[in-house]
Amino acid sequence: MIARTAGNGSTAAPAASSARPTGSFDIRTQDCIDFLRGLPSASVDLIVTDPAYSGMNRHLRLGHGRIVGHYGKPDNARWFHEFSDDPESYAVFLGECHRVLRQDRHVYIMFDSFSMLSLGALVREFFDVKGVVVWDKVHLGMGHYFRRRHEQIVFASKGRRKLSRRDLPDVWAVPRIHRAAYPTQKPVQLFEFMVQASAEPGFLVCDPFCGSASSGVAALLGGCDFIGADIDARAVDIAEERLATFVATGQDPLEPAR
Ligand SMILES: C[S@@+](CC[C@H](N)C(=O)[O-])C[C@H]1O[C@@H](n2cnc3c(N)ncnc32)[C@H](O)[C@@H]1O
Repeated sequence: MIARTAGNGSTAAPAASSARPTGSFDIRTQDCIDFLRGLPSASVDLIVTDPAYSGMNRHLRLGHGRIVGHYGKPDNARWFHEFSDDPESYAVFLGECHRVLRQDRHVYIMFDSFSMLSLGALVREFFDVKGVVVWDKVHLGMGHYFRRRHEQIVFASKGRRKLSRRDLPDVWAVPRIHRAAYPTQKPVQLFEFMVQASAEPGFLVCDPFCGSASSGVAALLGGCDFIGADIDARAVDIAEERLATFVATGQDPLEPAR
């Protein structure tokens, strides 16, 4: 399935696929660093990931001091773990990403505005940063000044690799998911663009912060295998059930409209 770029530079959604994916998946309940340390060097072909940065919530205190309501209460269904993203931990994370990635491969790391400014430049110390993609969520979100409508995705390489797709702009207009089954669930389409641009069938796609595994669905759609981790057992349950259903039926239960 190939999504095509509309003439105005926005990104067109692909048609829904009924084909059943043939790839495999492996999702672990683990901290991202422990997970990566357990993988052999040069063993994955593409890293696509959307970390749960703590910076935005810790430092950009707005309103009552937290952006996401009763975010910190573990009994709240909208709660999820944050990754302590001080520069030292983040450098360890990036170093492990570099170690497990094969030579001549790509990595995509998502950033909110706060973490982009505080951590984004560190990516250059480990990878060749090739560009920054803007995810335009199309619909307005929260925000006390300009209301948030975008996130950023740093695109980088280990060694040299051309993009498989050359028709994508660096702004991806993909509507955010409303009433998502998982609190931070991202549209599969986002990860599909990454897979289409940087993977071949049979590649192993890795996401150390996989949440509900939207990245996993995209990997399987692209004929790839998927390995992921999340520190939260509830996320892993959702992700495993989602990918098992997707492999069995060809339908994504968390984005049925696709
Ligand atoms: C922004 S969400 C990812 C959402 C995912 N892209 C999706 O579409 O569902 C980040 C995830 O990182 C997980 N997480 C937080 N700290 C972690 C850590 N230290 N190691 C691994 N996962 C962690 C959270 O539980 C959360 O599910």
